[in-house]
Amino acid sequence: MTILQSTQHGVLTLTLQRPEKKNALSSVMYQALTAAVQQAEQDPDVRVVVLRGQPDCFCSGNDLADFVAAGALNAEHPTVMFLHALSHFQKPVIAAVSGLAIGIGTTALLHCDLVYAAPGCRFQLPFTALGLCPEAASSLLLPKLVGYQKAAQYLLLGEAFDTNEAHRMGLVNDVVSVDELFAYAEQKAQKLAALPSEAVMQSKKLLRAPQQQLVQQVLHQELAVFEHLLHTDACQQALSQFFARNKG
Ligand code: COA
Repeated sequence: MTILQSTQHGVLTLTLQRPEKKNALSSVMYQALTAAVQQAEQDPDVRVVVLRGQPDCFCSGNDLADFVAAGALNAEHPTVMFLHALSHFQKPVIAAVSGLAIGIGTTALLHCDLVYAAPGCRFQLPFTALGLCPEAASSLLLPKLVGYQKAAQYLLLGEAFDTNEAHRMGLVNDVVSVDELFAYAEQKAQKLAALPSEAVMQSKKLLRAPQQQLVQQVLHQELAVFEHLLHTDACQQALSQFFARNKG
């Protein structure tokens, strides 16, 4: 079981549980996350979702091997289905981030409503080094959050940033010690779950509405470019290097 689910007092907690692969998201994990989000949407007993990993690792991004094996980036691709479900989800999502947050481990946060992080996290968007481009509408949402030049630093150069930087830029709401992080996120989730649910959902909808259409448009534009880049020599070489590094 690579995604653990537990529900308590209206809060569904989804825990990425693949520590041996640094919580790289496989197709099976994307499918489980998508199903969980879709069920949560329909379930009146779920009012808030918390997304977390382990103390030393939130998520190392797409499972690179699985991602390539899953084929064309169409509407049935597990990553695409998850991005679609997350970006349309009407209930609030809280992320509790500790350790690594790479690739979609960072871009997914742009679709969460509240983000809490432990000190010393490593956030990174290493798309260009892999011969790839931004995903999850991060080419729209990141510059909107941090300004163009900073976004270029993270999305073109692929430079990592830490929790303090993520907090300064507004990606992270609060910095919480790793020992208290998950309890803190749960506590905030309980607080949200205790509020009138329709008011919370309508408020989220209003917050997201002005750019929802654009987010979907950009998300799909990015996927088309990503798909093209996946087949380039530069990307194939970068992926081979990653797999070779981990073999030897
Ligand atoms: N996809 C597939 N496997 C991954 C992975 C990923 N994104 N991230 C980590 N893993 C695997 C490694 O292959 C390794 O597997 P192995 O033990 O079978 O060889 C295992 O997880 C542990 O990773 P390792 O690289 O040994 O740990 P580390 O602490 O030295 O480095 C990372 C961790 C996350 C910095 C490094 O694994 C990495 O750079 N991963 C790729 C991240 C990435 O580019 N994500 C974006 C994808 S779009």
